[in-house]
Amino acid sequence: MNLSQIIQNRHATKAFDPTKKIPEDVVAELETLLHFSPSSINSQPWHFVIASTAEGKARVAKATQGISAYNEPKILNASHVVVFCARQNFDDAHLSAVIDQEEKDGRFSGTEAKEGQYKGRGYYVNMHRFDRKDTQHWMEKQVYIALGTLMLGAAARNVDTCAIEGFDARTLDEELGLRAKGLTSVVILALGYSGADDFNAKLPKSRLPEQTVISRL
Ligand SMILES: Cc1cc2nc3c(=O)[nH]c(=O)nc-3n(C[C@H](O)[C@H](O)[C@H](O)COP(=O)(O)O)c2cc1C
Repeated sequence: MNLSQIIQNRHATKAFDPTKKIPEDVVAELETLLHFSPSSINSQPWHFVIASTAEGKARVAKATQGISAYNEPKILNASHVVVFCARQNFDDAHLSAVIDQEEKDGRFSGTEAKEGQYKGRGYYVNMHRFDRKDTQHWMEKQVYIALGTLMLGAAARNVDTCAIEGFDARTLDEELGLRAKGLTSVVILALGYSGADDFNAKLPKSRLPEQTVISRL
């Protein structure tokens, strides 16, 4: 399948087959997509919690009570569930951790280059921190890049997914102890294989007309 076919073939999976598990080698590939997802200034302001056991998924599903109860079976019956988390703040220690890692990975010719990068990236971090005051929003945008990367990659490997924003972040943060680790949950992705009750698998895809959403100069 080419990319046009892959994106049009995928759909938000409304019911997963609880008997089907994603093979381990495919899981490993999908995890690599999370690990190597790009982010502004290579900030990587994220953490991904992956639940694959019944117990792990039940813990995540605790956040889908009440108004979002319709999402509970998706989480319980999916093969794997990823909780996409953002950091709570972007401090100097995190920026240093990123730059130190880049040094270890051989991206700087010397100390001067490393220091230049620290200063340059610090400019953007401070712009979001002090001028725009949108650090949380900025970090969450990066998290959504990882979500899109994983969704498309999963579709390419014939793995069905459903992104889930319908959950209670406070409950999930508490259940997974995220806030104590400086993290907060942003969005969930359920992955697995479409089940018999997946009504959306049979519905035609609907998008606004191409000319409405794409202009060419
Ligand atoms: C960020 C995001 C959050 C979503 N949250 C939910 C959700 O909580 N529950 C659900 O059933 N579908 C959810 N969806 C699925 C969308 O409704 C679906 O992707 C959209 O209607 C387009 O349909 P398609 O994915 O089948 O092409 C979400 C999708 C995205 C991208």
